[in-house]
Amino acid sequence: MEFYIDSAKISEIKEACSYGIVSGVTTNPSLVLLSGNADYESMVKEICEVVNGPVSAEITAEGIDKMIEQGRKIAKWHPNVVVKIPMTEEGFKVTAVLAKENIKVNMTLCFTLSQAILAARAGAAYVSPFVGRLDDINQDGVALISDIMEVYELYGYETRVIAASIRHSQHVYLCAKAGVDIATMPFSVFKQCFTHPLTDAGQKRFMEDWQKTQEQFGMK
Ligand code: G3P
Repeated sequence: MEFYIDSAKISEIKEACSYGIVSGVTTNPSLVLLSGNADYESMVKEICEVVNGPVSAEITAEGIDKMIEQGRKIAKWHPNVVVKIPMTEEGFKVTAVLAKENIKVNMTLCFTLSQAILAARAGAAYVSPFVGRLDDINQDGVALISDIMEVYELYGYETRVIAASIRHSQHVYLCAKAGVDIATMPFSVFKQCFTHPLTDAGQKRFMEDWQKTQEQFGMK
């Protein structure tokens, strides 16, 4: 299982990378808004210099021809860029065209197994089911991940599954058990995954005992 960071903030991406476990980045227009930087192209190029792995950049054009044109442009920003395309009817057509040109596509906003199957058939390199947003409407986001993994395995689809809209470390745990290829997580969830109160309490106790040992044997 791989971990991507779901962020367009370069400082966060750099810090997450310093943990040595980030192998890719996903961005979207909402994350660009949060980053406070409207120059998407230079932002994505900078991210590609920081992370040596796939970096998803989302198209924002409307209409098939314009979407295809923008997808081709985005794909040229950097060899590691993956073009993120929404799972709309138009998005499927655009994906089919770009995939035939060997452009890597991440089909995003996936909420059903049938959408995920169509993404694989259209030639998408990645599919992004949104776990948290399904939970938000009282559906089981992790169950969708399990279903996609099972059916992709059954038919030998090579499209890689990125569990997205991950809200907390329990999502990461459950998606791992479902055998997902990748989880893309906000920086806050990375931090959650690292921490446990018993780790912190245990480390505090070790350090206190070390101090006592030093004092008792006159090492200070
Ligand atoms: O990768 C998709 C993600 O950015 C959406 O997350 O929390 O807005 O549903 P969320």
